[in-house]
Amino acid sequence: ELATTVAGILLKTCVYNASGPRSGTSTALSKVAQSASGAVLAKSATVQKQSGNPQPRTWHHPDYIASFNSEGLPNNGIDYYIDATTIDDAMKDADDDKPYFVSLSGKSLHDNMEMLHKIASAPTKNRISAIELNLACPNVIGKPIIAYDVDQMDSILEQVSQLTDSLPPLGVKLPPYLDFQHFQQAASVLNRHKKLVKYVASINTLGNALAVDVVSEAPCISSNSGFAGLSGPAVHYTALANVRKLRELLDEDIDVVGVGGVRSGKDVFAMLLAGATAVQVGTCHWIEGPSCFDRIVDELRVLMEEKGCRRIEDVKGKLKAW
Ligand code: DHB
Repeated sequence: ELATTVAGILLKTCVYNASGPRSGTSTALSKVAQSASGAVLAKSATVQKQSGNPQPRTWHHPDYIASFNSEGLPNNGIDYYIDATTIDDAMKDADDDKPYFVSLSGKSLHDNMEMLHKIASAPTKNRISAIELNLACPNVIGKPIIAYDVDQMDSILEQVSQLTDSLPPLGVKLPPYLDFQHFQQAASVLNRHKKLVKYVASINTLGNALAVDVVSEAPCISSNSGFAGLSGPAVHYTALANVRKLRELLDEDIDVVGVGGVRSGKDVFAMLLAGATAVQVGTCHWIEGPSCFDRIVDELRVLMEEKGCRRIEDVKGKLKAW
């Protein structure tokens, strides 16, 4: 039994796709929907459709230990991701009750509010199980990533709170924290907004990493002077620590969804032990394709059986002390 809940929403398996890779179109999303993925999460939307940065904007290490991206948020715009035809096409061959989530990454508070208002009045509102608000992206140019600036995060959540009753449940995507003071400051803001924030997804990419191509003697990525978000196995241990620490500090009403470098049933199990209620897969999905959900869920099922764990609840947060 690998079922779980995120923000009170039932997922038949506790593994689903992260926003970003292979999540920009209804065709891509339909492949996730037909797999063992417990939910379907769309690419972060902006108000308007945009094509993103010039190529090459992604790079995978040949041994798949790390991936880099500076895509510049290519996406089809919010109207596409909440459109009935998109949701029909994405979900048509999925289990009837498989949840569909949207992700928002507005370029300003104003843009995020505009997208939230669109959802609040959308005819498809009741088909959107939850909204993931991406606070791990730069918002105002010249200011830090929203979730690295607790005052900015507080004021955004304060504004969004006005819409709580007219929206599906809301989660926030967080960047990695590396310092216990920062964990405490972030958790204290999130706890203050627990009526609004029903889950956190932790972590987004580790920001501004640099991969260098020794043959060309240039960065592996052309945009942003080569600086790019780091993902994949290289960030898995940072992700586990973030899940563990956030689970410790957040009010129990806020679920923690673990994301970062997960590519096996063992990795999912470790995330569950650290306190995750569900686990998203980004980079591995990007590299391997949607069959990764079937494989990872099978591996988790075998491991749970070997260990005599019957439910996610038997594992969640049960990391042992030495
Ligand atoms: C992009 C990368 C991110 O990590 C994110 O949260 C949103 C967008 C991008 O480069 O497209």
